[in-house]
Amino acid sequence: MVPTTTCRVCRGTVTEFMDFGRQPLSDAFREPDDTGEEFFYRLAVGACPDCQMVQLMEEVPRERMFHEGYPYYSSGSTVMRAHFEATAEKLLAEHLTGPDPFVVELGCNDGVMLETVSRAGVRHLGMEPSGAVSEVARSKGVRVRNAFFEKETALRVREEDGPADVVYAANTFCHIPYVDSVLEGIGELLAPDGVFVFEDPYFGDVSAKASFDQFYDEHFFLFTATSVRNMARRFGLDLVDVERLPTHGGELRYTLAKEGARTPSQAVSAILAEEEERDLTSPEALRSFGDRVRGNCESLTKELRSLRDQGKRVVGYGATAKSATVLNFCGIDAELLEFVCDTTPAKQGRLTPGSGVRVLGHEAFTASYPDYALLLAWNHAEEIMAKEVGFREAGGRWIQYVPDVRIE
Ligand code: SAM
Ligand code: TMP
Ligand code: ZN
Repeated sequence: MVPTTTCRVCRGTVTEFMDFGRQPLSDAFREPDDTGEEFFYRLAVGACPDCQMVQLMEEVPRERMFHEGYPYYSSGSTVMRAHFEATAEKLLAEHLTGPDPFVVELGCNDGVMLETVSRAGVRHLGMEPSGAVSEVARSKGVRVRNAFFEKETALRVREEDGPADVVYAANTFCHIPYVDSVLEGIGELLAPDGVFVFEDPYFGDVSAKASFDQFYDEHFFLFTATSVRNMARRFGLDLVDVERLPTHGGELRYTLAKEGARTPSQAVSAILAEEEERDLTSPEALRSFGDRVRGNCESLTKELRSLRDQGKRVVGYGATAKSATVLNFCGIDAELLEFVCDTTPAKQGRLTPGSGVRVLGHEAFTASYPDYALLLAWNHAEEIMAKEVGFREAGGRWIQYVPDVRIE
């Protein structure tokens, strides 16, 4: 492992532990007749020995990822819709109880969470740079500003709307390399007793499950309670609560408050102790993670090649952003997968980035079940398995690759 780059949090020297090679933008689904050059960057991951933050070695400019045509719509999953409705109810009940409460959401996407807040008549603002998804949020009665959240835009919100009781972000804060600007902005925006609540994939779960496809351009950081606590302190914030979530293959919800404003919960000391015991970013743990990932990828490609040689029909299920890492790192292309089905209209009719597999609607899957389906949306396994009982009944088999390769 070679030290290569400067930590985005503490300016320490990040040590690289995994190189996934040249990768395309995970959400850049291409038109089949697009002959333009595809954008690639080097996807490599490192950990900072000083503050423990796990982060990418290269940063993709944000406008390349989040723009008018950003194709991820949060409301595409029934389970996630229920999760965000419950989240909104929780924020309303626990933190938005004052006389005229105000909540700001970073990356509100299609309004999946703020819709409930808006219906409750509570003052809110979604900050969402991606145009098309934010239009959907607006159509649901959500107040949205098309802008990247950072210090400058945070100050504007503070000026126009006053202090926020809650700043909330789901699957967004880990997408932002410029943490200093965001956390300074949050420091300015929050009311003295306000909280910053965010949830993102947990490196503790990534490490346990070798779920390497949680690494892609948009996931710049993979947090732990330890790295978040260390980061927060640099900006005058305390980690005051954590909650484990089953969403997206294992996440943590973190609550930060201004230093000294709240007493950290038992859950914080418990998870910090657990992480110390696990020593998630030790050189041995990271080396063993890399070995498991390479082993899983080899088995997966071997399995898919063998099925192709037997003349079996194999498709992918869910054109997830994370599937870009699996498909491109393992060299899985249109020779091994007939198509990938996905319910998102903005992805259909296009090709998966880098790997060039056709994306078709869900009906292509049910019209004539394949022999095997590679579950690329494994983080939605329960929802998908429940919906697709017919596939199993018709003799179809699922191929999974997290935590290891298995056919069931
Ligand atoms: N919160 C939703 C969820 O959990 O399903 C959406 C998550 S989506 C993976 C990430 C979102 O963050 C995108 O809609 C993107 O446009 C937005 N985003 C990226 N950088 C941002 C920033 N600096 N401020 C606000 N939103 C940002
Ligand atoms: P995500 O893992 O980033 O949430 O992306 C999930 C992708 O899978 C998204 O493109 C929608 C798609 N999907 C389906 O096609 N069918 C489903 O039942 C679910 C839950 C997701
Ligand atoms: Zn660091």
